Amino acid sequence: MILGCVGWSDDRETGRYHRFVPEVRRAKLEDVPFLAPSLASAFVNDPVSSFLIPNAARREAILGEFFVVQLTRTYLPRGEVYTADNCVGASMWLPPRSALPRLRDQLVYLRVALAAGGWRRTRRLSVTLQRLRPATEHYYLGTIGIAPAHQRHGLGGALLRPVLARCDAQRLGAYLESSTEGNTHFYAQLGFRVTGEIAAPGGGPRLWLMWREPDSAVPPVGGSPRSGAEGTG
Ligand SMILES: CC(C)(COP(=O)(O)OP(=O)(O)OC[C@H]1O[C@@H](n2cnc3c(N)ncnc32)[C@H](O)[C@@H]1OP(=O)(O)O)[C@@H](O)C(=O)NCCC(=O)NCCS
Repeated sequence: MILGCVGWSDDRETGRYHRFVPEVRRAKLEDVPFLAPSLASAFVNDPVSSFLIPNAARREAILGEFFVVQLTRTYLPRGEVYTADNCVGASMWLPPRSALPRLRDQLVYLRVALAAGGWRRTRRLSVTLQRLRPATEHYYLGTIGIAPAHQRHGLGGALLRPVLARCDAQRLGAYLESSTEGNTHFYAQLGFRVTGEIAAPGGGPRLWLMWREPDSAVPPVGGSPRSGAEGTG
């Protein structure tokens, strides 16, 4: 019996319980009203979110608005977003050489940052992180979040594997900034290594910069390491 969309299933033959992780798929525009609240609930106690949105009472609502903007303005049109049918979480990636946000999109981000009350902090942090991005071509993990009730059931790893498998096949690195030290263990299991640690400017929390080399044991696909990375940006 399946005990939930993400949870445990029992094997009647062996009598043992197994983790059941739903099938991961690319997210669509119609998923946004479900994904944004899931992501907002995942990040409501995150140290960086708390620093950028000091108002605890309004944080989840502002995050929900922010994720609608992030999904619709950046990651769905120009990147790759993965979820499962229950939409309890998502991973959002940008491919190598993706362009910076257009001016009109930057203005929408600015509106949300102003509502959050910490737009100077947001701006300084985003400039700092942009400067620290490795020069080597890579896939960039912008966000991953799973609604709290669905965490630690294997979905987070499952949402990262499609792009990591492509990174291996195309011999491309992957890069992210982790907002908690605990999460570095989650990423380390997927092959990421900490390459630096910074404090968010203005007395903010620490962030861990993580890089993943492609797994050279995986056979390469296509002649060029760039093939397939185009077209989504
Ligand atoms: C971090 C996050 C995406 C991980 O997703 P998840 O579905 O909970 O993780 P998984 O079940 O795939 O984890 C696989 C393994 O990674 C490790 N792991 C996961 N989260 C961890 C954590 N916070 N600390 C230490 N190890 C962790 C565990 O070994 C876990 O296996 P286990 O549960 O059998 O011990 C999720 O917990 C989340 O959304 N957190 C809140 C938002 C957030 O912090 N996002 C990332 C910002 S950098």
